[in-house]
Amino acid sequence: MARTPFVAGNWKMNTNKASAIELAKGVAKGAPAGVQVGVATPFVYLDAVGQALAGSKVQLGAQDVYFEKSGAFTGEISVEMLKDLGVAFCLAGHSERRHVLGESSELVGQKARAIVAGGLTLIHCVGEKLEQRDAGHTLNVVQSQLEELRGSVEDPNSLVIAYEPVWAIGTGRNATDQQAQEVHAYIREAMGRMWNPDFANRVRIQYGGSMKPDNAAGLMAQRDVDGGLIGGASLKPDSFLAIVNAAK
Ligand code: PGA
Repeated sequence: MARTPFVAGNWKMNTNKASAIELAKGVAKGAPAGVQVGVATPFVYLDAVGQALAGSKVQLGAQDVYFEKSGAFTGEISVEMLKDLGVAFCLAGHSERRHVLGESSELVGQKARAIVAGGLTLIHCVGEKLEQRDAGHTLNVVQSQLEELRGSVEDPNSLVIAYEPVWAIGTGRNATDQQAQEVHAYIREAMGRMWNPDFANRVRIQYGGSMKPDNAAGLMAQRDVDGGLIGGASLKPDSFLAIVNAAK
């Protein structure tokens, strides 16, 4: 079945207000038909970037969220707050949140559940560390991160998986086309077991980790690669749009 590719930029802790607006406008101007396009911006610029994207096809995304609805959670942001600003999708389980900020699998699962329950599209990030790959544990790691979604998602359109090998993120060392396809195929097969094959066939699986204009076409051409989650290369309209175009 044909899945519409989805390419999302993850700006991480980059840009300032003026450069965020400029970047958003540049992406909005060049975004082609045939690919779903989104940008996950820092919280503080969501409102300004949302206004810069108004009237375009580019979707506004958040990089994180807290799972509670409201209350005494100093510093946290709820799904309702994101929706209030026009956010369409939200990441959960990014490797920097898991491994730099120390989020547990339980917390990632709670966030994922809240994102879906609130009606946003979830980009659930999974991926192994280098030592886990070297020890032959890649598929087990990915399987256990998929388990975080058990019981939380019914509609395949509300879920996107981002396979991001930790050793490829921000390192300039991307997975080869074959390494990506192998894990993507496994993720689809595992989702087929957890839900059913039809559900698994509908869910988009993005690749992330040093995806650039010069390696995007090869990765996107893989059967189970349905787009990308782009960090460094999403910070310039030209490089981001080159990747978006490679997904067409
Ligand atoms: P990168 O980041 O493209 O800079 O490797 C990808 C990500 O972390 O989503």
